[in-house]
Amino acid sequence: TTNREKYRPAYHHTPQWGWMNDPNGLFYKDGVWHLYFQYNPYGSQWENMTWGHSTSKDLVHWVHQGNAISPDALGTIFSGSAIVDKNNTSGLGKGTVVAMYTSAGKSQTQSLAYSTDDGKTFTKYANNPVITAEVPDFRDPHIFWNEDIHAWNLILAAGQEMNIYSSKDLKNWIFESTFGLGYGNHDGVWECPDLMKLPVNGTGEAKWLLICNINPGGPFGGSATQYFVGSFDGHKFTCESKPDVTKWMDYGKDHYATVTFDNAPDNRRVAIAWMSNWQYANQVPTMQYRSSNSVPRDLGLFTDAGETYVSVVPSKELLALRGDKTNRLSAACELVVDIKSQSKPTVITLSNARDEQVVMTYNPKDCTFFMDRTQSGNTGFSDMFKAKTIAPTHGTIRQFRIFIDKCSIEAFDAAGKMAMTNLVFPTEPYGRLTVNGAAKTTLYELK
Ligand code: FRU
Repeated sequence: TTNREKYRPAYHHTPQWGWMNDPNGLFYKDGVWHLYFQYNPYGSQWENMTWGHSTSKDLVHWVHQGNAISPDALGTIFSGSAIVDKNNTSGLGKGTVVAMYTSAGKSQTQSLAYSTDDGKTFTKYANNPVITAEVPDFRDPHIFWNEDIHAWNLILAAGQEMNIYSSKDLKNWIFESTFGLGYGNHDGVWECPDLMKLPVNGTGEAKWLLICNINPGGPFGGSATQYFVGSFDGHKFTCESKPDVTKWMDYGKDHYATVTFDNAPDNRRVAIAWMSNWQYANQVPTMQYRSSNSVPRDLGLFTDAGETYVSVVPSKELLALRGDKTNRLSAACELVVDIKSQSKPTVITLSNARDEQVVMTYNPKDCTFFMDRTQSGNTGFSDMFKAKTIAPTHGTIRQFRIFIDKCSIEAFDAAGKMAMTNLVFPTEPYGRLTVNGAAKTTLYELK
């Protein structure tokens, strides 16, 4: 690591060099987590989309595996998903990994590729593309096995809506329905969907979560992850909220293209986001690569005042990174803040000798969490970088967990009711920490 790489995260996944955007084809098989990603192997800005590939045995240490799917005559390789075909429904072989992605050529069409060596190398399906339509923004297929109907489902972004399909063999797809008209935020293009069934905390009931990344239109400008909660019968998704209700999974500016792993153990729903924003992703001052992924997060559902929301908890594997407790803020650490007063604000300030700072405020009176990065360091590479972001906390928060890693801050309610992810580029690391109003502050070095 040279000084040119001073922003390279210590414990977040990044490409070795070149540009990265969305996580793609996330799946787990035989003890290994697979992370593919939108990758430009030839440059540090968006172009030449290829699926890069990394693997991990513990969700926190990643090994680069080389490119998995490269452009062809149908186009470059845009975002998509992958599944493990345990029962050989495709006829390609038991345990085959089947990926579906968007071929971005003259038009956007959906293609298949399969792997019989656990995701290392892929063969493109001979009859690609498998889905075509005359829709301009038609992409990011997410396939999943739906046990309720004993068939595959596919959710696919189509302009500002989501198309739903079903299939018995992953090759032939039947159009079922569309969701989205009039629902939620439409100030941008809907992209990178995901759809899954999750238990609602404390109820014994399960509901369906539809993830809908949108760009622009995010709560603080540019890219963000909105979602809908409702029911799904394998044919049609029905949102349970009123059409004008908009819900966001993360209230920072740098949380996009969030999708979950297929086939994760213990029915877990582990999500990973791209930690950037299309407003300035091509300009962020990192070298020799651009962009990292968020820490892995386990998703759930909880209810507040009659509405069901997604809960976001840092995945338990992150605990294994904790090193010694320390008194000093370092460039890669976890800050745990136990709240003392639920009547006065708690204020957390990270700063350095150059008076660069990030201020976070938990205000229990109006149940909000606030982060100000306007003075965070290098903010000049884009007019849209300076930002103050604010999140609802859905009641009181007892403990915050804040992950700092060179150029990112991910703040969580330890119980999962609030998440906020923001990039920061201090010209030297924040070495000073002040916390006003906490019962207890614990700092862990992260290994
Ligand atoms: C989202 C996105 C996807 C597309 C990919 C292209 O960030 O625009 O919709 O598949 O990036 O790299």
